[in-house]
Amino acid sequence: MITSETRVGELLQNPIARDVLAQLVQYAGVNERIIQNPIVKGLKLSAIPKFAGKAIRNADQIIDTMIELFNQEDGTASPGPSSERYWWKEAVIYQIYPRSFKDGNDDGIGDLRGIIEKLDYLHTFGVTALWLSPIYDSPNDDNGYDVRDYRAIMTEFGTMADAEELIEQLHKRNMRIILDLVVNHTSDEHEWFIDSVKNPQGPHGDYYVWRRGKGVLPPNNWLSFFSGPAWEKVDDRDEYYLHLFSKKQPDLNWENPAVRDDVCGIIDFWRGKGVDGFRLDAINYISKTSLADGNETIGGLLGFTGIEHYFYGNRLHEYLRELRSRAFGDSFTVGETPGTGPEMNKLLTADSRRELNTVFSFDHLENLGKSRFDDYRYNLNHLKKCFNRIEGPYADVAWPSIFVENHDNPRMVSKIDPREEYRDLVAKLLAVVLLTARGTVFLYQGQELGAVNVEFSDISEMRDIESLNRYRDLTESGVSPETAWKTVLCGSRDHARTPMQWTNEAYAGFSVREPWIRVGDKDVCNAADEMRDETSVWSAYQTLIALRKEHPALVYGRFEPYAAAKDDVFCYFREDGGERFYVEVNLTARSIRQPRTKGAMELLYSNYMAQGDGLQPYEANIYRVGAPQADLSEE
Ligand code: NOJ
Repeated sequence: MITSETRVGELLQNPIARDVLAQLVQYAGVNERIIQNPIVKGLKLSAIPKFAGKAIRNADQIIDTMIELFNQEDGTASPGPSSERYWWKEAVIYQIYPRSFKDGNDDGIGDLRGIIEKLDYLHTFGVTALWLSPIYDSPNDDNGYDVRDYRAIMTEFGTMADAEELIEQLHKRNMRIILDLVVNHTSDEHEWFIDSVKNPQGPHGDYYVWRRGKGVLPPNNWLSFFSGPAWEKVDDRDEYYLHLFSKKQPDLNWENPAVRDDVCGIIDFWRGKGVDGFRLDAINYISKTSLADGNETIGGLLGFTGIEHYFYGNRLHEYLRELRSRAFGDSFTVGETPGTGPEMNKLLTADSRRELNTVFSFDHLENLGKSRFDDYRYNLNHLKKCFNRIEGPYADVAWPSIFVENHDNPRMVSKIDPREEYRDLVAKLLAVVLLTARGTVFLYQGQELGAVNVEFSDISEMRDIESLNRYRDLTESGVSPETAWKTVLCGSRDHARTPMQWTNEAYAGFSVREPWIRVGDKDVCNAADEMRDETSVWSAYQTLIALRKEHPALVYGRFEPYAAAKDDVFCYFREDGGERFYVEVNLTARSIRQPRTKGAMELLYSNYMAQGDGLQPYEANIYRVGAPQADLSEE
């Protein structure tokens, strides 16, 4: 049990404490060795407020909240490893943002018929499962992440018959389908919410998080992820409702068992239609430990005041176990869990605990101390560090989700090196790292083409609620329109949401009508050209997916980092069942002196036509290692 008399050093015995301290260090961008400093380790928690002086406001309050959080897992046994083999561990999952994938009915908006049209493309490419961002009926405040009816298809996307056909066609090709399940919140146009507003005493009166304000102020100081307060007043009830995302996305009250019954019903409905798995949106936010004010220092650091009360809520595990036993059964589940750390993720995903199968961790997406809206060049050494941490023995307990792109982030290639001459190399480097990693691989549409960020010209071209709100808030707070635009442009989710570039025809072959959002540069990359070119990024991905399928060692094999302390190169072995592979990657745009591999090494893939001495800029190679074991000593 942790109390205010516990010393920082002892705190490190507690898994949750280790995670939280590591996260804070990451956000603050300071060296993680600070926690190991003997003076810091010797400090009692009760001494920190004095020690911190005015540097940390309300330090007492932070400490109390943290003690409560750490004690949540007091006495929890550390989960053991599992070597079970499952289809989802071997899967290469392709994420589709339906609105932007392919327009099948010429209205400028992607849809289910468009996806069906492209199933052969996906099958030829080699992916084994699709994850579709939400396809349910929605007023589209947040492009489908605001669900109005979980049992109906968004009109713009098609009909239930189309969805059934898509599932059937996928299964015919031996491919699986994963739906996005958004149940932290609904749309404010969902019938539950409408009824909740009208009938506080009725069956849905307590389906959402309603509270009285404090005088003229909201119930607490929490902020929404999409700018402004996380509360909205409804005069009819004379109460506020909580919305961690937009005003049109009220949070469900998971404390209410009827809400959980209904969520189980939704899962049953889609499992009945043959769906194989679910990606659980913002799932770590469903349990709110308390509705007390958030600490402003933590809020300042993370950008979202209040988050310590719900990012790892006290009933989270209980709710997940309930969903698993009552509804998910053996369906695959991947949780989107922003902010949880490696130890929490073990507890969320260890096989023996029967909660989730895997989670998306986001630690690798930004360099230390940086956030999505910072304009900076991503250093790949950070990716190496994060992957080294999760792919070794850790993965025996918590099977990782491996990805670098999704619909919520700008394109990774642009973040690493926006120069066109390196696009191809960097895109293939990422393909090598992803497809030789130990975990379930997720690719995002367009990544297989080496897609890059889009040169939007001004705010009128943006469509995402997060970008629009952020721009409005920045300019209203006195930031110049130029600076606000620069900030929004570098972090906007719209970069990844522009139409898939199929051809070099009008609108990149996505539609015959002007699409709902502008199209990127189809001459930089498009599927038709790349499929014809054996040296393209598309062909590299296709080859590497096939290689992974052929060699289970690349999925299940032991991950052995090599020369991990050497900066700027990422080298590792993968080994299983007598097969051994060696991967070496230059993480920089410079040539690097690197011991030449000797002995029985067969080059299986390289993003260069020819190897030289050392590693060329962004060079990435995969070798098969024969017996006797290869000698990596310097020649
Ligand atoms: C995470 C989703 O990935 C994002 O697109 C969405 O805006 C929020 N959750 C809210 O549902």
